[in-house]
Amino acid sequence: MVDLLLIRGNIFTPIDDGKPKTLKRMDELASIEDGAIAVKDGVIVDIGKTDDLFKKHRDTKNIVDANFRAVLPGFVDPHTHALFVGTREKEFDMRLAGKSYMEILNAGGGILNSVKRLRSATIEQLRDELKKRIKTFFEYGTTTLEVKSGYGLDFENEIKMLTAIALTKKETPMDIAATFIGAHAIPEEFKDKKEEYVKLVVERMIPYIAEHKLAEFVDVFCEEGVYTPEETLRIIEAGLKHSLKAKIHADEIASIGCSELALKTKLSSCDHLLKIKESGIEALKQSGTMATLLPITAFSLKEEFADGRRLVDSGVGVALATDFNPGSSYSESMPFAITLAVLNMGLTPREAIVASTLNSAYVLGREKLVGSLEVGKQADFVLLKENSYLFIPYHAGVNPIYAVYKRGERVFS
Ligand code: NIG
Ligand code: FE
Repeated sequence: MVDLLLIRGNIFTPIDDGKPKTLKRMDELASIEDGAIAVKDGVIVDIGKTDDLFKKHRDTKNIVDANFRAVLPGFVDPHTHALFVGTREKEFDMRLAGKSYMEILNAGGGILNSVKRLRSATIEQLRDELKKRIKTFFEYGTTTLEVKSGYGLDFENEIKMLTAIALTKKETPMDIAATFIGAHAIPEEFKDKKEEYVKLVVERMIPYIAEHKLAEFVDVFCEEGVYTPEETLRIIEAGLKHSLKAKIHADEIASIGCSELALKTKLSSCDHLLKIKESGIEALKQSGTMATLLPITAFSLKEEFADGRRLVDSGVGVALATDFNPGSSYSESMPFAITLAVLNMGLTPREAIVASTLNSAYVLGREKLVGSLEVGKQADFVLLKENSYLFIPYHAGVNPIYAVYKRGERVFS
């Protein structure tokens, strides 16, 4: 007997053919009108027409009628800074008055402002902050989430952040991928001795984090005035050597050769790419590195959006994420990211859905578990209020999510 039978849904899903979706395949969603999904032990065991599945599984005690609402895979958000203490709305106001994001950071605000507050918090406080935010992520349809460190910027506090993430994982149904980004800014104590801090990251933090399995990924803010491509490469190589996977913040504010690193090392993804040049696109394409685009950040910083259309047309696998953080993107909403990607980055609605589900599952290395609604994958799905995925970008600014299931259990409705 199955544990759950979802009936009468309009199912829309990418079909996984063993690699990230690119080019025309990115614009394809399979659909089952009046469809059903059978779930056992948190996994999809059958999917098809309601009539067929009902005949096979009618003895189940738990039947959910989707009432012809759209059913999609839960969103996979592969880039967030969801663990922080305190918000930065005053800096938002300063940016509206004309100060730039980098000016605020260079004056000791921005990320460094969040660092001060994080350092005085306990692990339990951090866990509670993250748990509270996970509730909001579920409400907006996210069922798999990447969370970065990067507001500790010293050994003790980076480990504290990653430990808080590990603690949270045990207390939530959310699937969390932890990323170590000790190189997220230059800590004030190391202002004039960045090399010493890079060494600390490479020689002490990465080995410890890998040994204690506190992170799956290493990340670097590769940016003008922050970490150079050379420093980024050293940090990434140290992570890879210790069996972490790697991703970078690249070409967000200036183009200084960060996405080009994709040709020199093994990156799961280059993220942001607002300022990517032809050489960067070529590097992603040749190396098969994914591009994770963060439209809410461009929107919030009032920057020109990354050219998603050009990246897709160049054959790069594109994923979408929120970049949720208290500075450049204070939004947990993947539906909002999809809306902006469709209206401002030239993605089709289908491409934006694929980018937020299967392609983002590939970025996190979870494509065998999540990202599409197929037999053998986790029963992570969302029901929309309306009958089509088109309502996500079309009903802009309004939460389109009606209910959310994680491994077959309802986590929001
Ligand atoms: O992806 N650019 C670096 N990191 C984040 C912002 C973090 C913050 O401002 O707190 C980003 O935009
Ligand atoms: Fe980020």
